[in-house]
Parts: sequence; structure tokens; C-alpha cells
Amino acid sequence: MEISYWKSRWRKGNIGWHMDHVFPPLTAFWSALALAEGTTVLVPLCGKSPDLQWLADLGHKVVGVEASGKAIKEFIAHSPESFTRTERYGYPIFESPSITLWQGNFLSLPTQATGPLDAIYDKASLVALPPDTRPQYAHKLLQLCGSHTQLFLQTFEYEQEEMNGPPFSVPLSEVQTLFGNHFTIRLLQEESRLAEVQKFQQRGLSSHFVEKIYHLYTS
Ligand SMILES: C[S@@+](CC[C@H](N)C(=O)[O-])C[C@H]1O[C@@H](n2cnc3c(N)ncnc32)[C@H](O)[C@@H]1O
Repeated sequence: MEISYWKSRWRKGNIGWHMDHVFPPLTAFWSALALAEGTTVLVPLCGKSPDLQWLADLGHKVVGVEASGKAIKEFIAHSPESFTRTERYGYPIFESPSITLWQGNFLSLPTQATGPLDAIYDKASLVALPPDTRPQYAHKLLQLCGSHTQLFLQTFEYEQEEMNGPPFSVPLSEVQTLFGNHFTIRLLQEESRLAEVQKFQQRGLSSHFVEKIYHLYTS
């Protein structure tokens, strides 16, 4: 999936993944990470998710990375915070007291860009990427991780032959391949979402569609 694909979806308003409310598993399970106020959370491929503001309101320093300028503009327009624009490493950066948004390709983000991270929040990000790009994405995440950085990860599992992604099916075996050498992987929740994804059923999905929420941590 090229960035032009995503920009075109933003241009057309074809953003079915976007939720106007905070992602329920985030509010249900974020406390599992036991992070203190003031700790830094990276949100790769953040879109204009209200989860950014929810994390900031908890007292985290939030760093989002998003390729679409339209997404960032729309997030800022709805945020209670005021943002200033700067630029580093060729990326436009939009900063408020608690949220920093980098506009550009996450996969090329310099490793020194974010500073030390306490956690990474991945909702609809790994699953947005095709199989050949996911190792590069995971490698970038791991490059940005310190020894204690934790990962909150959403995946979907379904029969990939039934429907083309995105979102893609990312089974536990792949999560283990991508992250198992670095993290302990703990499943926090597993829910069937088949009844909620009628639009995917129109694309061919029929047998199952399971959402999994993982907590990845170092021990
Ligand atoms: C499926 S959406 C998920 C957005 C957000 N996480 C959410 O749940 O609302 C994927 C997002 O990643 C962005 N994106 C895709 N590839 C990217 C890349 N290489 N670098 C930065 N952003 C990217 C797209 O523009 C899109 O907003």
C-alpha cells in the first residue's frame, strides 16, 4: 500500500476505520501497561484518532506519525489544544503542549526523532500494511523501542483468501515472528467482530473475523 493510496482515501473521505469515539479496548486495557503520568507514547499511523487526545488527557506525552496532512489538519481542528508548526528531518511537525504530530512516512522516520518511548499504541496500523511491508514496520518500531518500551497492539484474524486487505489478517504466528524475539506477548482480549463488519462481508468475508488485543512487554 503506497502512501498515495492512503492520501487518496483521505481525499475522498473513504476512512471507514476512523472512530469518532475512543477505541473501547484502549479505555478497558490501557491500565495493564501501568504507565506513570508524563511518560511518552508513540502512535504510529495515527490518522485523526481521538485516542491521541485521550492518551494526552491521561497525562502522557503523545507522539503521532501520519502521512496524510488532511488527517492532521482535521485532528488539530477538533483538538482543544493549540498547535505550532515546525520542521525537522524534512518532516512538518505540529506541536501542542502534550501532542506532537509528525507528518510523513513512518517507515522513514529517523530513529532519533521521537526520543525515548515508554509505550507504542498500535490500533489499525500493523493491520493496515500488506505482508511485505509489515517486517519493515516492525523493524522500525523495534528501532524506536528502548529496553522497557511496551506495545499495545490490535490485530484482526480472518481467512485472507476471502477478502483483500486492508485491513489485513495478522495471525498470532506472525506477531510472534515480528516481535517474539523482543517481547513477551500477552493476549488481553479476543472478540468476534463478524456481525459488525457487514461492509467486509460484501467484499467476500464469510467465515470469521476476530479482533485481538495484545500487550507486548519486556520482562
Ligand atoms: C487504517 S488507518 C488507521 C488510522 C488510526 N490508527 C486509527 O485507528 O484511526 C491507517 C493510517 O495510516 C496512515 N499511513 C499509512 N501508511 C503510512 C506510512 N507509511 N506512514 C505514515 N502514515 C501512514 C494512513 O494515512 C491512515 O491514516
